[in-house]
Amino acid sequence: MTKATLIEHLNDDLAGEFSAIIQYLTYAAKATGPYRPQLVQFFLAEVADEQLHAQFLANKIVALGGEPATRPRDVAAASTNRAMLEAVLQAERDATKAYTERAKEAEAFGDKGLVVQLEDMLRDESGHSEETERILRDWPL
Ligand SMILES: [Fe+2]
Ligand SMILES: [Fe+2]
Repeated sequence: MTKATLIEHLNDDLAGEFSAIIQYLTYAAKATGPYRPQLVQFFLAEVADEQLHAQFLANKIVALGGEPATRPRDVAAASTNRAMLEAVLQAERDATKAYTERAKEAEAFGDKGLVVQLEDMLRDESGHSEETERILRDWPL
């Protein structure tokens, strides 16, 4: 694992975190119906975690000598509450998978501090996806 490849992959993760922030803000605005208050609260509560992830990644990329990405990944289009929850679930599962992979890469690169931080982030993301999965499990529509 070269430093350049690790920086490139962390930048892809950073673009994903920016996207997650935009996704949650946008979906909170778009949520409708009787569950709107709970959905707004649920979506907005995730923003703080994703912002901390983005902040960590940007700092780490600079520490490694790289230039942090400033462009988000595209946010999945979704027009119903269910579609938004499903898109969130997919994004959180993708993030969990990406950080699992990234922790292995950081181990190969020899940066134990980064391994620990990435494992911490993957625990956050898997918590987000489990919570979303439980909301979807008995979704009425
Ligand atoms: Fe995140
Ligand atoms: Fe997340």
